[in-house]
Amino acid sequence: MKNCRNWLLGVAMSCLAAGALAQGNPAEDMKRGQELMQQQMKLMTPELVQKANALSPEIKKFLMHVALRHERRSDTLTLVQVMQEIMAEHHMIGAAIATDNGPMAADAARRLALHRLPKGGMLPYLPIEKVTTEGLSVLPSMEAAVEGNAQKIAEAAEKGDMVAAARYYGDMTAGCVACHIHFRGQPGATAYTPRLKQ
Ligand code: HEC
Repeated sequence: MKNCRNWLLGVAMSCLAAGALAQGNPAEDMKRGQELMQQQMKLMTPELVQKANALSPEIKKFLMHVALRHERRSDTLTLVQVMQEIMAEHHMIGAAIATDNGPMAADAARRLALHRLPKGGMLPYLPIEKVTTEGLSVLPSMEAAVEGNAQKIAEAAEKGDMVAAARYYGDMTAGCVACHIHFRGQPGATAYTPRLKQ
Protein backbone atom coordinates (compact mmCIF):
# COMPACT_ATOMS: atom_id res chain seq x y z
CA MET A 1 0.00 0.00 0.00
CA LYS A 2 3.08 2.25 0.24
CA ASN A 3 2.64 3.37 -3.35
CA CYS A 4 -0.85 4.61 -2.65
CA ARG A 5 0.43 7.29 -0.33
CA ASN A 6 0.15 10.41 -2.43
CA TRP A 7 -2.74 10.66 -4.82
CA LEU A 8 -1.55 13.95 -6.23
CA LEU A 9 1.75 12.48 -7.28
CA GLY A 10 0.13 9.33 -8.55
CA VAL A 11 -2.02 6.60 -7.09
CA ALA A 12 -0.22 3.42 -8.07
CA MET A 13 -1.71 0.30 -9.63
CA SER A 14 -1.50 -1.50 -6.31
CA CYS A 15 -4.19 0.82 -4.99
CA LEU A 16 -6.58 -0.78 -7.39
CA ALA A 17 -5.59 -4.34 -6.62
CA ALA A 18 -8.37 -4.69 -4.07
CA GLY A 19 -10.81 -4.12 -6.90
CA ALA A 20 -12.71 -1.19 -5.39
CA LEU A 21 -13.25 0.15 -8.87
CA ALA A 22 -15.09 -2.80 -10.24
CA GLN A 23 -15.89 -1.94 -13.82
CA GLY A 24 -13.81 -0.78 -16.74
CA ASN A 25 -10.15 -0.85 -17.45
CA PRO A 26 -8.20 -0.51 -14.16
CA ALA A 27 -5.45 1.66 -15.66
CA GLU A 28 -7.96 4.04 -17.25
CA ASP A 29 -10.08 4.12 -14.10
CA MET A 30 -7.03 4.99 -12.07
CA LYS A 31 -6.03 7.82 -14.39
CA ARG A 32 -9.57 9.20 -14.44
CA GLY A 33 -9.89 8.77 -10.65
CA GLN A 34 -6.70 10.76 -10.11
CA GLU A 35 -7.92 13.53 -12.42
CA LEU A 36 -11.19 13.73 -10.53
CA MET A 37 -9.47 13.88 -7.15
CA GLN A 38 -7.14 16.60 -8.43
CA GLN A 39 -10.11 18.62 -9.69
CA GLN A 40 -11.76 18.34 -6.27
CA MET A 41 -8.59 19.28 -4.42
CA LYS A 42 -8.07 22.39 -6.56
CA LEU A 43 -11.31 23.74 -5.08
CA MET A 44 -10.40 23.04 -1.45
CA THR A 45 -8.83 25.44 1.03
CA PRO A 46 -5.13 24.77 1.80
CA GLU A 47 -6.16 23.61 5.30
CA LEU A 48 -8.51 21.00 3.85
CA VAL A 49 -5.97 19.89 1.23
CA GLN A 50 -3.54 19.20 4.04
CA LYS A 51 -6.13 17.15 5.93
CA ALA A 52 -7.07 15.27 2.77
CA ASN A 53 -3.44 14.44 1.97
CA ALA A 54 -2.99 13.02 5.46
CA LEU A 55 -5.80 10.44 5.04
CA SER A 56 -4.97 6.73 4.88
CA PRO A 57 -4.50 5.07 1.47
CA GLU A 58 -7.69 3.06 2.06
CA ILE A 59 -9.82 6.16 2.60
CA LYS A 60 -8.23 7.89 -0.40
CA LYS A 61 -8.99 4.83 -2.50
CA PHE A 62 -12.56 4.88 -1.25
CA LEU A 63 -12.99 8.60 -2.08
CA MET A 64 -11.60 7.92 -5.55
CA HIS A 65 -14.05 5.07 -5.98
CA VAL A 66 -16.91 7.41 -5.00
CA ALA A 67 -15.74 10.08 -7.46
CA LEU A 68 -15.53 7.52 -10.26
CA ARG A 69 -18.77 5.72 -9.52
CA HIS A 70 -20.94 8.84 -9.48
CA GLU A 71 -20.94 10.18 -12.99
CA ARG A 72 -23.15 13.19 -12.31
CA ARG A 73 -20.82 15.81 -10.82
CA SER A 74 -21.90 19.39 -10.24
CA ASP A 75 -19.68 22.47 -10.55
CA THR A 76 -22.10 24.61 -8.57
CA LEU A 77 -24.36 22.62 -6.23
CA THR A 78 -23.56 22.25 -2.53
CA LEU A 79 -23.97 19.11 -0.44
CA VAL A 80 -27.21 20.45 1.04
CA GLN A 81 -28.62 20.86 -2.48
CA VAL A 82 -27.53 17.34 -3.43
CA MET A 83 -29.09 16.05 -0.20
CA GLN A 84 -32.36 17.77 -1.10
CA GLU A 85 -32.33 15.94 -4.41
CA ILE A 86 -31.63 12.68 -2.55
CA MET A 87 -34.51 13.52 -0.21
CA ALA A 88 -36.83 13.95 -3.20
CA GLU A 89 -35.81 10.51 -4.53
CA HIS A 90 -36.33 9.10 -1.04
CA HIS A 91 -39.90 10.47 -1.00
CA MET A 92 -40.53 9.08 -4.45
CA ILE A 93 -39.35 5.60 -3.47
CA GLY A 94 -41.64 5.68 -0.42
CA ALA A 95 -44.62 6.76 -2.51
CA ALA A 96 -43.93 4.07 -5.11
CA ILE A 97 -43.57 1.28 -2.55
CA ALA A 98 -46.77 2.34 -0.79
CA THR A 99 -48.68 2.29 -4.07
CA ASP A 100 -47.16 -0.95 -5.38
CA ASN A 101 -45.46 0.79 -8.30
CA GLY A 102 -42.32 -1.29 -8.88
CA PRO A 103 -40.87 0.55 -11.90
CA MET A 104 -41.23 3.96 -10.20
CA ALA A 105 -39.54 2.66 -7.03
CA ALA A 106 -36.73 0.99 -9.00
CA ASP A 107 -35.91 4.08 -11.10
CA ALA A 108 -35.89 6.44 -8.11
CA ALA A 109 -33.78 3.99 -6.07
CA ARG A 110 -31.17 3.76 -8.86
CA ARG A 111 -31.02 7.54 -9.16
CA LEU A 112 -30.54 7.76 -5.40
CA ALA A 113 -27.79 5.11 -5.43
CA LEU A 114 -25.97 7.01 -8.19
CA HIS A 115 -26.70 10.45 -6.77
CA ARG A 116 -25.02 13.65 -7.98
CA LEU A 117 -21.78 14.79 -6.34
CA PRO A 118 -21.54 18.37 -5.03
CA LYS A 119 -18.91 20.93 -6.04
CA GLY A 120 -15.52 19.84 -4.68
CA GLY A 121 -16.81 16.42 -3.53
CA MET A 122 -18.06 15.73 -0.03
CA LEU A 123 -15.09 16.70 2.14
CA PRO A 124 -15.55 20.51 1.96
CA TYR A 125 -18.97 20.21 3.61
CA LEU A 126 -17.98 18.03 6.56
CA PRO A 127 -16.86 19.44 9.92
CA ILE A 128 -13.07 19.85 9.51
CA GLU A 129 -12.35 17.83 12.65
CA LYS A 130 -14.11 14.85 11.01
CA VAL A 131 -11.77 14.92 8.00
CA THR A 132 -9.41 12.36 9.48
CA THR A 133 -8.86 8.67 8.75
CA GLU A 134 -10.84 7.81 11.86
CA GLY A 135 -13.65 10.29 11.21
CA LEU A 136 -14.11 9.09 7.63
CA SER A 137 -13.67 5.39 8.38
CA VAL A 138 -17.48 5.04 8.66
CA LEU A 139 -18.00 6.05 5.01
CA PRO A 140 -17.83 2.57 3.41
CA SER A 141 -20.49 1.24 5.80
CA MET A 142 -22.67 4.32 5.15
CA GLU A 143 -22.35 3.69 1.44
CA ALA A 144 -23.37 0.06 1.93
CA ALA A 145 -26.36 1.07 4.08
CA VAL A 146 -27.65 3.78 1.74
CA GLU A 147 -26.51 2.95 -1.78
CA GLY A 148 -26.34 -0.82 -1.22
CA ASN A 149 -29.91 -0.92 0.09
CA ALA A 150 -31.07 1.43 -2.69
CA GLN A 151 -29.79 -1.14 -5.23
CA LYS A 152 -31.58 -3.90 -3.30
CA ILE A 153 -34.80 -1.83 -3.34
CA ALA A 154 -34.48 -1.50 -7.12
CA GLU A 155 -33.99 -5.25 -7.62
CA ALA A 156 -36.83 -6.22 -5.26
CA ALA A 157 -39.22 -3.61 -6.71
CA GLU A 158 -38.48 -4.79 -10.24
CA LYS A 159 -39.45 -8.32 -9.23
CA GLY A 160 -42.64 -6.92 -7.73
CA ASP A 161 -41.56 -7.87 -4.20
CA MET A 162 -42.72 -4.69 -2.45
CA VAL A 163 -42.58 -6.30 1.00
CA ALA A 164 -38.82 -6.81 0.61
CA ALA A 165 -38.48 -3.32 -0.96
CA ALA A 166 -40.19 -1.80 2.10
CA ARG A 167 -37.76 -3.60 4.40
CA TYR A 168 -34.74 -2.33 2.42
CA TYR A 169 -36.28 1.14 2.46
CA GLY A 170 -36.16 1.04 6.27
CA ASP A 171 -32.55 -0.20 6.25
CA MET A 172 -31.58 2.53 3.77
CA THR A 173 -33.20 5.23 5.90
CA ALA A 174 -31.28 3.95 8.93
CA GLY A 175 -28.13 4.71 6.86
CA CYS A 176 -29.25 8.34 6.33
CA VAL A 177 -29.83 8.67 10.07
CA ALA A 178 -26.48 7.11 11.02
CA CYS A 179 -24.53 9.38 8.69
CA HIS A 180 -26.32 12.49 9.93
CA ILE A 181 -25.64 11.54 13.55
CA HIS A 182 -21.96 11.06 12.76
CA PHE A 183 -21.30 14.07 10.52
CA ARG A 184 -23.83 16.74 11.38
CA GLY A 185 -24.00 18.69 14.54
CA GLN A 186 -27.47 20.10 14.89
CA PRO A 187 -29.85 18.84 12.19
CA GLY A 188 -31.18 21.60 9.97
CA ALA A 189 -28.50 24.03 11.13
CA THR A 190 -27.79 26.79 8.66
CA ALA A 191 -24.49 28.32 7.64
CA TYR A 192 -26.01 31.77 8.29
CA THR A 193 -26.50 33.14 11.77
CA PRO A 194 -30.23 33.21 12.52
CA ARG A 195 -31.54 36.22 14.45
CA LEU A 196 -32.61 34.19 17.42
CA LYS A 197 -31.86 34.57 21.11
CA GLN A 198 -29.28 31.95 22.14
C1 HEC B 1 -22.19 10.28 3.90
C2 HEC B 1 -23.04 10.80 4.95
C3 HEC B 1 -24.48 11.09 4.62
C4 HEC B 1 -25.42 10.20 4.16
C5 HEC B 1 -25.24 8.72 3.86
C6 HEC B 1 -26.65 10.94 4.04
N1 HEC B 1 -26.46 12.25 4.40
FE1 HEC B 1 -27.84 13.74 4.30
N2 HEC B 1 -26.45 15.07 5.00
C7 HEC B 1 -25.13 14.78 5.30
C8 HEC B 1 -24.45 15.98 5.73
C9 HEC B 1 -22.98 16.10 6.15
C10 HEC B 1 -25.41 17.02 5.69
C11 HEC B 1 -25.21 18.50 6.07
C12 HEC B 1 -24.57 19.23 4.93
C13 HEC B 1 -24.35 20.71 5.19
O1 HEC B 1 -24.92 21.26 6.14
O2 HEC B 1 -23.59 21.33 4.41
C14 HEC B 1 -26.66 16.41 5.22
C15 HEC B 1 -27.84 17.10 5.05
C16 HEC B 1 -29.01 16.55 4.57
C17 HEC B 1 -30.22 17.31 4.29
C18 HEC B 1 -30.36 18.83 4.40
C19 HEC B 1 -31.29 19.26 5.49
C20 HEC B 1 -30.70 19.16 6.86
O3 HEC B 1 -31.40 18.65 7.74
O4 HEC B 1 -29.54 19.53 7.07
C21 HEC B 1 -31.16 16.41 3.84
C22 HEC B 1 -32.57 16.72 3.41
C23 HEC B 1 -30.53 15.10 3.84
N3 HEC B 1 -29.23 15.22 4.29
C24 HEC B 1 -31.17 13.93 3.44
C25 HEC B 1 -30.57 12.68 3.39
C26 HEC B 1 -31.24 11.44 3.05
C27 HEC B 1 -32.70 11.30 2.70
C28 HEC B 1 -30.31 10.45 3.11
C29 HEC B 1 -30.45 8.98 2.86
C30 HEC B 1 -31.11 8.54 1.67
C31 HEC B 1 -29.03 11.08 3.49
N4 HEC B 1 -29.25 12.41 3.66
C32 HEC B 1 -27.85 10.39 3.63
C33 HEC B 1 -24.53 13.55 5.20
C34 HEC B 1 -25.14 12.38 4.76
